[in-house]
Amino acid sequence: MTESSGLIRGLEGVVAAETQLCDLDGVNGRLAYRGYDIADLARQATFEEVAYLLWHSALPRRAELDRLQAELVAARPIPDALTAAYRLFPRQVDPMRALQVSVAMLGMTDPDTADGSRAANLRKALRLTAQLATAICAHHRVRSGQEPIPPAKDLSHAGNFLYMLTGQRPNAVNTKAFDACLTLYAEHELNASTFTTRVIAATLSDMHSAVAGGVGALRGTLHGGAGEAVMRTLLEIGEVARVDAFVAGALGAKRRLMGFGHRVYKAGDPRAAILRGMAEQACRQSSQPHWYDMAVRLHETVQAAKGLIPNVDFYSAPLFYSLGIPVDLFTPVIAAGRIAGWTANLIEQYDDNRLIRPRAEYVGPIRQPWAPVEGR
Ligand code: ACO
Repeated sequence: MTESSGLIRGLEGVVAAETQLCDLDGVNGRLAYRGYDIADLARQATFEEVAYLLWHSALPRRAELDRLQAELVAARPIPDALTAAYRLFPRQVDPMRALQVSVAMLGMTDPDTADGSRAANLRKALRLTAQLATAICAHHRVRSGQEPIPPAKDLSHAGNFLYMLTGQRPNAVNTKAFDACLTLYAEHELNASTFTTRVIAATLSDMHSAVAGGVGALRGTLHGGAGEAVMRTLLEIGEVARVDAFVAGALGAKRRLMGFGHRVYKAGDPRAAILRGMAEQACRQSSQPHWYDMAVRLHETVQAAKGLIPNVDFYSAPLFYSLGIPVDLFTPVIAAGRIAGWTANLIEQYDDNRLIRPRAEYVGPIRQPWAPVEGR
């Protein structure tokens, strides 16, 4: 590339798409899905309503919601071949890797895999959303030496997830907390995994291939994998009294503190503020207040020392832990929420597609003379 490159590392600040899905105001710390404030949605909507809003541009009316719920319930079972494949996976396999394989395998059996029409993509979005939850829980049960629990038709998406994971019907408080988490994670503009799904879709590849790529991007610790890393940090610290010494040591060692910082939010991540309240309630109710107290101390100490704000993955960690979610399932749980946003973005991308193909500035050696192998 000979002209001036205009390199922007990490594409920071680059606007790469128009969207009607997510209004992210990083300066003022505001987030809205299709104009609805995230706090209203997290407190009052169900994840099913949010998914409908993202896919269909408007909140569902009663009959539309009833139909969506029935369709999601009907789509919950996963193919027997997928459960059989889990029994062949190594026991230690990372659940995100298993999820990526699951999405690819669901693409082998989905009746609409080869149909790229808008109607087919909406059907696939719904099926993927329903099946991802079942796949995550079924794989977890199999790797734990337990039988998968068939989905319960009478439970909501969030309630059924917790049921399929544990075998216990969750109480209303835990179901609401988990449902709100799925909503808070459902959509976030051009984050790394959503951008990945759009890049794949922009080649006119199919929805399952795009989502499998998104799962791969999400697992990294600079993205969705941070939540799991936050919990491992809290477990490493162990008690509130050790937080200050931990932070001093971590900052001295120039260690990256997981769950802090954000590319876009500089004043505060509105999702973290909502999750903080939910984490407090869940930790206290499950008689594990120390995880919340430790998180607050860590938050305040790191913010005071470095000016770093907690992001969405910070308070979700003690919240998920107190709900009984295994630490290495935190990132799959984020995927179970983000699937609504990934698929809505994919539909938007297919509706107005152009190949995404940026340039790189070549900085290697130039005009090297060819030398045959014996002469090198
Ligand atoms: N801990 C310590 N220092 C940090 C952190 C952190 N968590 N985040 C940013 N910084 C510092 C960097 O060291 C850097 O300092 P320097 O300029 O003195 O070198 C400066 O802040 C800028 O950091 P970048 O990594 O360039 O910022 P960027 O916008 O690229 O990164 C990111 C954003 C990846 C989220 C970063 O803040 C981070 O690594 N956070 C920890 C991982 C994390 O929590 N990820 C989840 C994000 S939310 C989500 O994806 C669901």
